[in-house]
Amino acid sequence: MKAVADSRLEALGWQHRYSGKVRDLYESAAHPGRLLVVASDRVSAFDHLLEPGIPGKGALLTQLSLWWFGKLGEPTHLAAAHPSLGEHLPAEIAPRTMIVHALEMYPIECVVRGYLAGSGWAEYRATQSVCGVPLPAGLEEGDELPEPIFTPAFKAPLGEHDENITFERMAEIVGDADAVMLRDASLRIFMTATDIAKERGILLADTKFEFGRDPETGGAVLADEVLTSDSSRYWDAETYAAGGPGRLESFDKQIVRDWLAANWDKTGDPPELPAEIVERTAARYQELVDRFLVA
Ligand SMILES: Nc1ncnc2c1ncn2[C@@H]1O[C@H](COP(=O)(O)OP(=O)(O)OP(=O)(O)O)[C@@H](O)[C@H]1O
Ligand SMILES: [Mg+2]
Repeated sequence: MKAVADSRLEALGWQHRYSGKVRDLYESAAHPGRLLVVASDRVSAFDHLLEPGIPGKGALLTQLSLWWFGKLGEPTHLAAAHPSLGEHLPAEIAPRTMIVHALEMYPIECVVRGYLAGSGWAEYRATQSVCGVPLPAGLEEGDELPEPIFTPAFKAPLGEHDENITFERMAEIVGDADAVMLRDASLRIFMTATDIAKERGILLADTKFEFGRDPETGGAVLADEVLTSDSSRYWDAETYAAGGPGRLESFDKQIVRDWLAANWDKTGDPPELPAEIVERTAARYQELVDRFLVA
């Protein structure tokens, strides 16, 4: 599932500009200041791109992002004033696309955590703090935090690992005023999303936002994907409450990560994912989308 420029889009005047791990960005001379963001089915774990992709993943993540953008009541990068720009895209590609304002992105992953899990849990065990935020003693993996915390990461160039940083370091990178603004926006959006998810029996354990500055207006807006299974850790509230080892099973690619951890020593190229792992992961992505969009 290597990133390649899609000739069908290039034939429509969309020039391939950049490929991240999951998304491909295109621009068109006919639509200055806009970007076509195409979510692929690519899946990565432990910083490696895996084979094969997860069928339907790009469309599911796009649907979920669009749904959340509509719910949050925040300024977003969606170029809503230009819906017709997407009209002529091939039917196979259209559900995986967003047309957005081309922003100057802050090189920061604005991570918010409401629960202790993943790298936050690892850091807490070593230091009793996460990204410089001190926490009470005695917390266990999966515990809810006294209040949500903002734990930014510096967005490393493609291929390198993002680096957790303190709020003070973030302020050096983006400036004091923008650091405060991005932190407050992230916490506000996290709390809104937490309430919306709870109504659907879902716990939002943590998530990552990205923001950019619109060169046309100067304003900072919510960009990228939002509150998807790739950018967020969600748990089923009922399973969580029941306790036991399965309570922290998330709606993301944990199935892929667990399988890889058990079947690969992390040297050389990762092995091909078995069909059963691909199917279970696809079903898990679909299940989350159904919990939100169909509820
Ligand atoms: N409105 C926007 N304007 C400009 N760039 C954007 C906008 N929204 C998102 N982006 C950028 O588009 C890219 C999306 O690619 P993708 O998420 O696949 O890769 P990545 O961010 O490099 O890696 P990762 O998988 O760690 O997120 C990111 O670099 C993101 O910052
Ligand atoms: Mg990304």
